Amino acid sequence: MQAEWSPESWKNKPEAQRVAYEDEALLAQATTELRSMPPLVTSWEVEKLKGFVAEAQDGKRFLLQGGDCAETLADCRPSVITNKLKILLQMSLVLVHGGKTPVIRVGRFAGQYAKPRSSPTETVDGVTLPSYFGDLVNHAAFDGDSRRADPRALIRGYTRAALTLNFIRSLTAGGFADLHHPEYWDMAFLSRADLNPKLREDYTRMSRDLSSALRFMEALGETSIDDLTRVEFFTSHEGLSLHYESAQTRRVPRREGFYDLTTHMPWVGERTRDIDGAHVEFFRGVANTVGVKVGPSAKPDDVAALVKVLNPQNEPGKIVLIARMGASKVTEALPPIVSRVTESKARVLWVTDPMHGNTISLASGIKTRNFDDILAEIESSFDVHKNMGTRLGGVHFELTGDDVTECLGGGISEADLDKNYASVCDPRLNYRQALEMAFLIARRMSQ
Ligand code: PEP
Ligand code: CO
Repeated sequence: MQAEWSPESWKNKPEAQRVAYEDEALLAQATTELRSMPPLVTSWEVEKLKGFVAEAQDGKRFLLQGGDCAETLADCRPSVITNKLKILLQMSLVLVHGGKTPVIRVGRFAGQYAKPRSSPTETVDGVTLPSYFGDLVNHAAFDGDSRRADPRALIRGYTRAALTLNFIRSLTAGGFADLHHPEYWDMAFLSRADLNPKLREDYTRMSRDLSSALRFMEALGETSIDDLTRVEFFTSHEGLSLHYESAQTRRVPRREGFYDLTTHMPWVGERTRDIDGAHVEFFRGVANTVGVKVGPSAKPDDVAALVKVLNPQNEPGKIVLIARMGASKVTEALPPIVSRVTESKARVLWVTDPMHGNTISLASGIKTRNFDDILAEIESSFDVHKNMGTRLGGVHFELTGDDVTECLGGGISEADLDKNYASVCDPRLNYRQALEMAFLIARRMSQ
């Protein structure tokens, strides 16, 4: 029997990745302020996403989740936001075309400001300071003031998340995301000379095909295409700062339970999914769809137990298991977990994150990832699920709509990496790499 849950009950549990705030009074002031502010999302939207995820669990939809490893407050700029929306829209179009199923678009944005770290401190030239835990906690610059955990950062993060979301909502409610006009989402890169001409041609042909198919169906008076043409975005981020999440968690009129209203779909990270820990305690009590990252060291029994704790009623649409095994491990590590969870009859959506198990450090110290490893993990995940009679229901990427040079392959070699390595955390796919990846997944889905 579980003890009683409340938005604060996590405070009685061991908290992995705990942030040491020096000023408790200031922290209390910040969370009180956050508690009084309007929610960023509504329970209607949360329930709608849950309904879509439930349909994805039945094989009727596919999830595309993507965005920065770490958003920064400074990147709350129109061009950065629109480029991210555009690449996600373009990728989703390619996937709709290849998979012949609607795609649920979930951004890693409007709140992806907190980062787990492998070490609580960082040492440079003999000086040791707290690690950078993301803009929701402290600053990236390496000096004592910047690295001090600042409770006011919770408010700054909330504010930028709200500004980001406001812009996204306006864009998608207006003409920007109208599927009849995919040319609105074309980016400068699409016409750039160094873009692989085949990629440009494939994309242009496919988007033209899709809009003419839409017009044809509309001419026939087909009404059910509304679902395909209305473009919606949902938000997600790692629910790492429980101060932030719990301050925006509340009851809403005429519904049961508590909603975490910082985002539609929070997820629990690989480093915070301890079944006895604070994060699992918190997320077992919210009504949102919850993602759980699962790495290669996860034990099948533990994953099944975790799913049970997070979703004791086996509610449809509630749990998304995001496997991030690494290309070399996925074929060994994933099947026992899929098998155990399937045997438990738990309803989950299986998603692959082909990024976090494939990070490598070069001799220069730069962190990168190979396009081919990322693709290989996706391919192997499709194979595993096919062999086991389950279904890969989605993909989770670290990507950006900008022209960065962070991952290798798709036109980027080792010598190019320092041209525009802009990530403050993990390396992301750039525009061309992301679009190319979408075509390769679509090809696999259409087989
Ligand atoms: C992330 O998604 O950026 C991350 C830290 O992932 P994981 O928890 O899977 O390591
Ligand atoms: Co990351």
